[in-house]
Amino acid sequence: MTGVMSGKKNTAAMILAAGQGTRMKSALPKVLHRVAGRPMLWYAATLARQVATRTVAIVVGHGSEQVQTYLEQEKANFEPFEVVIQEKQLGTGHAVQQAYPVCTRNDSRQADQFLILNGDTPLLTQDTLTSMVDYHQSEEASLTLLTTVIPEPRGYGRVVRGPSGEVRRIVEDRDASAEERNISEINVGTYVVEAGFLGKALSQLRPQNAQGEYYITDIIQMAVQQGLKVVAWVTNDSLETTGINTREHLAVAEKEMRRRICRRLMLAGVTLLDPDRVIVDEGVEVGRDTSLYPGVMLEGRTVIGDNCIIHSNSRLNNSLVGNNVVIQDSCVLLEATVEEGAVIGPFAHLRPGSLIHRKGKIGNFVELKHTEVGEGSKVNHLSYLGDTVIGRNVNVGAGTITCNYDGFGKAQTRIEDNVFIGSDVQLIAPVTIGEGALIAAGTTVTKNVPPNALGISRVAQINKEGAAAKRREILASSAPNAKAKQQGDPESSPRLNPQRQKDSV
Ligand code: UD1
Ligand code: CA
Repeated sequence: MTGVMSGKKNTAAMILAAGQGTRMKSALPKVLHRVAGRPMLWYAATLARQVATRTVAIVVGHGSEQVQTYLEQEKANFEPFEVVIQEKQLGTGHAVQQAYPVCTRNDSRQADQFLILNGDTPLLTQDTLTSMVDYHQSEEASLTLLTTVIPEPRGYGRVVRGPSGEVRRIVEDRDASAEERNISEINVGTYVVEAGFLGKALSQLRPQNAQGEYYITDIIQMAVQQGLKVVAWVTNDSLETTGINTREHLAVAEKEMRRRICRRLMLAGVTLLDPDRVIVDEGVEVGRDTSLYPGVMLEGRTVIGDNCIIHSNSRLNNSLVGNNVVIQDSCVLLEATVEEGAVIGPFAHLRPGSLIHRKGKIGNFVELKHTEVGEGSKVNHLSYLGDTVIGRNVNVGAGTITCNYDGFGKAQTRIEDNVFIGSDVQLIAPVTIGEGALIAAGTTVTKNVPPNALGISRVAQINKEGAAAKRREILASSAPNAKAKQQGDPESSPRLNPQRQKDSV
């Protein structure tokens, strides 16, 4: 990912993400809560990386181990990148105080200005941020803050302006007078600050407020008092600026992010039969002319090709699907790969390591685990195949099951090209069915079957003439309510009366 240059100024970024997020009522640090499949911190870091040309520093504190573990995995996407630990969360100003020396210690990375943003505003867009940075530079301001006007400003810092509309200071909700509380322009918590001013201002912060915290917002008044230029970039998309403090806010962000993703897909040529009921994670790719029916969920790193149809209520997680694939209703695909022209479902469960080659067919109530199905092969009904490799043009009959687990370890099954397996076959692994072999229905395969052989393990059938009728007669006469039944009393024999049975269901 490369930084987009905004003018000639070098920009470093700080993301404040150390707060506890008490109102989430969660064991998980707030910034790790997911929006469209990604921790909200990912959005802040991605945005910072897109806009900054120098170091992106993330301040972590509450639950820092978990946050650091996550950032470690994603680090490569955000370089140059630093994690800053704020041991005690003494306020947003204190958080910036911790990050500042980290961003400035390496001379070769020296920044002219700092972008500061909260880790809990995942809906903020690159457009808005870039406009704000551009405005800051064109105004030659020392400090620019992002603001918006909302009908319910409670809880936010308010923007106090002077008689000619100039920004004077930010007052926090708790510190505000009744009159100030009526101000509906709020501080989003996103700032661009000149490096020279920021360094000095940070050393002058004092925790003189209702919460006894160091407020970063105090630097606005400081700049004004020093006669420096402070401007506000007012965005009219206030949804974008939503800070996530509760699960309710999280749901708002989730809905909006999914709406954006669905819109992006539609603009790229994907049909969504009901965009309100399709759930696609950030980062999922879907090809042109693919149709997604209501209730489809595409999660994680899933990639879908062109011209596919994914029917209702199917969930695909970290799966790859080629072109022209049909996935029928109610399928679950987890870390599975499905090649071009295959047909899956309805009600198929492809567990991790399932690989369906071109034009394969996996039908109703089939579960696969770590199983490869060769080109044009079919597993159409009621099967479980685990740790199996199937060649081309194989037919696996209804109810066929691999017995791949002996209570201790897993064993492999190999089914070579052009094999025909009849219905209700058990394959006791490890076992190999040679090319072109035929397995008779009902067979329990316990040893390898050579190529082109017929494998059969069935007890020979015998028919006892008249035995069924005789048995029925005996049972009918010895049953305790046999008399009542013969007299046709419906009350006395519910079990044997089909009509009565139906009524009682
Ligand atoms: C802050 C602003 C407020 C603004 C609002 C927008 C201040 C004093 N107030 O208030 O004007 O309207 O954001 O959402 O800045 N954090 C740390 N370390 C700390 C404290 C907080 O990293 O010691 C992080 C939090 O994780 C969070 C961000 O800073 O991501 C904002 O902190 P929060 O406590 O939510 O500030 P607000 O009270 O919402
Ligand atoms: Ca907040």
